Amino acid sequence: METTRTTIERLGDYVGQTVTLSGWVYNSRASGKIAFIILRDGTGNCQCILEKNEQAESYFAEMKKLPQESSVELTGVVSKEARATGGFELKVEHATLLQKAQDYPITPKPHGVDFLMKKRHLWFRSQRQWHILRIRATIIDEIRRFYNDRGYVLIDTPLFAPAAGEGSQTLFKVDYFGDPIYLAQTGQLYLEAACMAHRKVYCFGPTFRAEKSKTRRHLTEFWMVEPEIAFSDLDELISVAEEFVCSITQRVLKDHRAELIELGRNIEELEAVKAPFHRITYSEAADLLHSDKAKALLDNDLVEKTARVTELDAKIEELEAVAKGGGKQWQKDKAAAEAIGCREERTELREQITNIPRHMELAAGFEWGSDLGGSDETIISRLHDRPIFVTHYPKQVKAFYMRVDRDDPRVVQGFDLLASQGFGEIIGGSSREEDYDRLVARIKEEKLPLEDYEWYVDLRRYGSVPHGGFGLGVERTVSWLCGLKHIRETIPYPRMMGQCYP
Ligand code: 4AD
Ligand code: MG
Repeated sequence: METTRTTIERLGDYVGQTVTLSGWVYNSRASGKIAFIILRDGTGNCQCILEKNEQAESYFAEMKKLPQESSVELTGVVSKEARATGGFELKVEHATLLQKAQDYPITPKPHGVDFLMKKRHLWFRSQRQWHILRIRATIIDEIRRFYNDRGYVLIDTPLFAPAAGEGSQTLFKVDYFGDPIYLAQTGQLYLEAACMAHRKVYCFGPTFRAEKSKTRRHLTEFWMVEPEIAFSDLDELISVAEEFVCSITQRVLKDHRAELIELGRNIEELEAVKAPFHRITYSEAADLLHSDKAKALLDNDLVEKTARVTELDAKIEELEAVAKGGGKQWQKDKAAAEAIGCREERTELREQITNIPRHMELAAGFEWGSDLGGSDETIISRLHDRPIFVTHYPKQVKAFYMRVDRDDPRVVQGFDLLASQGFGEIIGGSSREEDYDRLVARIKEEKLPLEDYEWYVDLRRYGSVPHGGFGLGVERTVSWLCGLKHIRETIPYPRMMGQCYP
């Protein structure tokens, strides 16, 4: 049969016509003479209806009980159906089986994350994951568009780097024809050289950090975009970062509102992401951690989370009774699945509750001169309704290249941008030390091998100018905009300590 082949996202153009869709069985159910297949074709989902009649004789029996993820081709007439997922339906007139899937491991009932991570190559077919990776692709598109539209020149920096760009504790060493070399932690130093040639430049690629802890914010391989601007000061860098984050947020809201809602993201919170963001210094951040506001926030968490656990205790008991009771099988299954979800939430809350006293202690006992920890960042960002710039950190907690503040040499002209709702740092940046003597002194102070940085120091010998830039982590941004609890779902194949498969 000759028909038009199309995809689910284009069905609107074919109402009343016969088309062929190819895809995978996401879900199916049948009752007697009628079968419903939710077809997933990579562009969307569509309900397809098969009726047992004469022309369906050759395929109805097989299609009716097709296992999840079997691949098929379905030909039929398109109709508008407001109640169906995607808004259209296909009344099937012909069906071809391409491959029958056997025991697809990810069923519609809940699975643990560890299991899903091992099945990552299949997991990203699932609806939530599908939304997240599409939003990621949009964010990356917007990143490129933002800098290209503003005249920044794309400079591809190397992934094999002979020296540390950030802290030397997180270097991945690899063998380079018998010599040790490192996987790039940043493209920044190379980009500084390029901005002296092109004025405004950016690089965008994967970066590597040997993070030896498992947290919800750290990957060992992540993507970072880094702009670098000659003749810039800290204020200009902060303005660019602000405009940049607003433009990514606006684009995601424009293109993915429905997906964000499905992911459970609070849209109002994203709509509030407008310039000007808050700006505080590191010293003010320290005061905030010591304040009654911070204490009240955590006290309140403790009360709310404990109450929720009590509520969950009761709910789990109830659901387990239904699951074990004498009701219909589907009711029992549904209750059992819901109980799994509730138990997961409870485990997570219990862990958070045990951590609260420690987070309180850390905040109350925070000492000027130490770095802000993950829980400190969370407190600061939760106390603000928009993203917040923290500037002027003590120089000992920041990288050697940051420009020392000439008025207060204890601090550097650097900043972090903390995303709102407690997500923490998504951007780190600074003005760079442009003075030859000061830079060399800092390299020595950090006990870095000066000979590895000779080329970098050249930039301070030949027409040195004030300059700077910042880096935005793509996965942290996806995590924040999608409202995810953990960074591992923001990248197709996450790499973390203890996680390098598939
Ligand atoms: O603050 P960082 O370390 O800054 C730099 O690398 C600078 N060279 C950037 C620059 O000035 N050109 O990292 C920048 C951002 C962080 O704010 C965070 O979003 C992300 O990169 N990031 C990570 N994301 C995931 N996993 C990790 N282990 C990350 N480390 C940093
Ligand atoms: Mg940082």
